[in-house]
Amino acid sequence: MLQQFKDAIESSNIISKTDTNGIITFVNDEFCKISGYTADELIGQNHNIVRHPDVDKNDFKKLWETINSKKIYKSTVKNLAKDGSTFYVNTTIIPILDENDEVIEYIAIRYDVTKEMFYKEELEKNEVKQKILFAQARHASLGQMLANIAHQWRQPLTELSLTVFNLKKNALSNEEAVQKYYDESKNIINSMSKTIEDFSNFFTPNREVEQFAIKLSVEEALELMDNSLKSSMVDVELRIQDELEVLGVANELTQVILNFLKNSIDAFELNGVLIRQVDITIRRLKEFAEIEFRDNAGGIKKDIIERIFEPYFTSKHQKNGTGLGLFMSKMIVEQSFGGSLDVKSKKHYTIFSIKIPLA
Ligand SMILES: Nc1ncnc2c1ncn2[C@@H]1O[C@H](COP(=O)(O)OP(=O)(O)O)[C@@H](O)[C@H]1O
Ligand SMILES: [Mg+2]
Repeated sequence: MLQQFKDAIESSNIISKTDTNGIITFVNDEFCKISGYTADELIGQNHNIVRHPDVDKNDFKKLWETINSKKIYKSTVKNLAKDGSTFYVNTTIIPILDENDEVIEYIAIRYDVTKEMFYKEELEKNEVKQKILFAQARHASLGQMLANIAHQWRQPLTELSLTVFNLKKNALSNEEAVQKYYDESKNIINSMSKTIEDFSNFFTPNREVEQFAIKLSVEEALELMDNSLKSSMVDVELRIQDELEVLGVANELTQVILNFLKNSIDAFELNGVLIRQVDITIRRLKEFAEIEFRDNAGGIKKDIIERIFEPYFTSKHQKNGTGLGLFMSKMIVEQSFGGSLDVKSKKHYTIFSIKIPLA
């Protein structure tokens, strides 16, 4: 029976034995297969023949401390095969004791986890890639914001130059008019400086996680876009069915709503829609807050709706679209708020739905 147990283990695992100095005394076929060495090449060699240079010296120290004190050592180990390739093994090293309780040899039982480890590494690489994309997306949205300020300033600047012109015209003859144009100018300048203040407040890296009212964050977005919405003649209705609070960075949610609004405005103009309606509804769904964002800007065609959250996916002309807005929005909702972002489109409507766990 012992022989049968031995056969069973040997045929399904990678097995080696070493003496107390770490010199290999036995290897099975599986060990030869994964390491690329023959049994003759291995027996008599120190076990560090498969040691990978990436592995920290302290790991070996810990290994030897463990097995020298007659305990079982378990770990996932990175090894080097004869041909220079890497393999990973889930390793258990068992000290074998004699009748005097002295270690006489070590048996190592391993199984191959190379595929799993490479998969894990791949995932980690992807995560880094996503972070870089996210940073790029933020950067791009900063550019969009600047464009937005420029847009918001266009009208008051025109007014201002007209007022200053009037001021000059009346400077010598009409004191009353001068005062009037002066006050007007001051008002315009104040409101322009407020615009820039709003935007810079929005972009100070206020990354603090806090409990905040969804309503405020949505209203902030509407305020920042007020001029653009008006000049594009978009009617926005905000329906607050429940006063709800969530946990996260308030500015980031504002950013998501801004992205939606900008996309709606783009779609309204692109599709030449005459009556332009955006409805935003905040409501409670069990343990979640839902923000439903709906426009009648033409809808999203079936063949692209699957792709709109992909980074760099845009249906717009290059100078109008970066394809990062919705990607970034989804990242914010999922990663910062632990929620979900979905889209539906029917006929000429588009509905984005954000669900965020309640605070
Ligand atoms: N409200 C909307 N109506 C119609 N299409 C939309 C809407 N929102 C997004 N889209 C589509 O999704 C695409 C991706 O949006 P986004 O990630 O913001 O990138 P961008 O706006 O730079 O194109 C847009 O190019 C557009 O085709
Ligand atoms: Mg966009």
